[in-house]
Amino acid sequence: MNVPLLDLVAQYHSIRDEVLPALLRVVERQQFILGEEVAALERAIAELSHARHGIGCASGTDALLLPLRTLELQPGDEVITPSFTFFATAGTIHNTGGKPVFVDIDPGTFNLSPAAVEAALTPRTRAVVVVHLFGQMADLQPILTLAARHNLMVIEDAAQAIGARRRIGDAWRMAGESGAVGAFSFFPSKNLGGWGDGGMMVTQNDALAERLRRLRTHGGAKQYHHDEVGYNSRLDTLQAAVLLAKLPHLGAWSAARRARALRYTEALSGLAGVCPPRIDPANEHIFHQYTIRADRRDDLVAHLRKSGIGCAVYYPLPLHLQPCFAHLGYLRGSLPATEAAAESVVSLPIYPELTDQQQDAVIAAVRSFYQ
Ligand SMILES: Cc1ncc(COP(=O)(O)O)c(C=O)c1O
Repeated sequence: MNVPLLDLVAQYHSIRDEVLPALLRVVERQQFILGEEVAALERAIAELSHARHGIGCASGTDALLLPLRTLELQPGDEVITPSFTFFATAGTIHNTGGKPVFVDIDPGTFNLSPAAVEAALTPRTRAVVVVHLFGQMADLQPILTLAARHNLMVIEDAAQAIGARRRIGDAWRMAGESGAVGAFSFFPSKNLGGWGDGGMMVTQNDALAERLRRLRTHGGAKQYHHDEVGYNSRLDTLQAAVLLAKLPHLGAWSAARRARALRYTEALSGLAGVCPPRIDPANEHIFHQYTIRADRRDDLVAHLRKSGIGCAVYYPLPLHLQPCFAHLGYLRGSLPATEAAAESVVSLPIYPELTDQQQDAVIAAVRSFYQ
């Protein structure tokens, strides 16, 4: 049986009759830029994230870029971030004039380690970009405390974690709720994916929200008046219509992903050579990815592909070892937990439409490799 890593066509068939009429309404109105669906989605995502403001933008990358721009980073200013993440997390630090300072991860959750953040602080540190990787929130509280003490901006890269939450004290905190800005991506493969690129920033801060709104429209609050130089980074109205139609399903989709994850973990736990992902007990995971550690990972990947099972390695080359960051001077061995993860991880198919039979085929293919 062939099992794709992700099956967006299956999702499309399940929601077509909700999404197509919503798209058609935008087409009939011909209001494609910052139409009413964008404002409605901004309110809905802000509400989901317990935030005062939602500001749509062109991509998850821009949802990181714009808040970093507000820092007006000077040469030598440092921004701490994990190396085990998608490239945009650090690319945006570089592109806003900052120097990425890469820190190691907790080997269990793959998220950045608060102790490593503290050890990396210098007088030039301006911000921390915390990534909630694979749909599980990082240990945010100690980082928020450090940031308050050292006057640093905390940006939550929640591109993979929309709707994820974590118990902090006696309250549930949503991904994106507690940092100065939370950044979401609506890339099609995300848990809430558009039919093209899209992103959203959320914040509790009124003044910051206003500045981010300006920055996404060339830096001008009033048309043809520019207080600063910004960007063209708007969320497309057609994308907002798709996302609004999909949003009511997100809770059930995330629950279905959690159920799939539990089933994988029960099936794979006893298998020598495989280590299922660890869930921090404080977290409610949304399983954007189900990522195991595997002995002889590259051979397993080849075996799965030969068996018709989709899988992917997120991420094979950590950012501190990327050629474009060679000038930062990191050597192999400098972030051991990150490098070990890059050599051993593989993500298996996980999506709400995955059937029991498909999941059984994935489990059987993994088992047959090790037994
Ligand atoms: C952790 C992380 N940060 C940032 C991004 C960038 O989002 P986008 O692809 O929407 O620009 C992504 C998405 O791919 C991501 O996974």
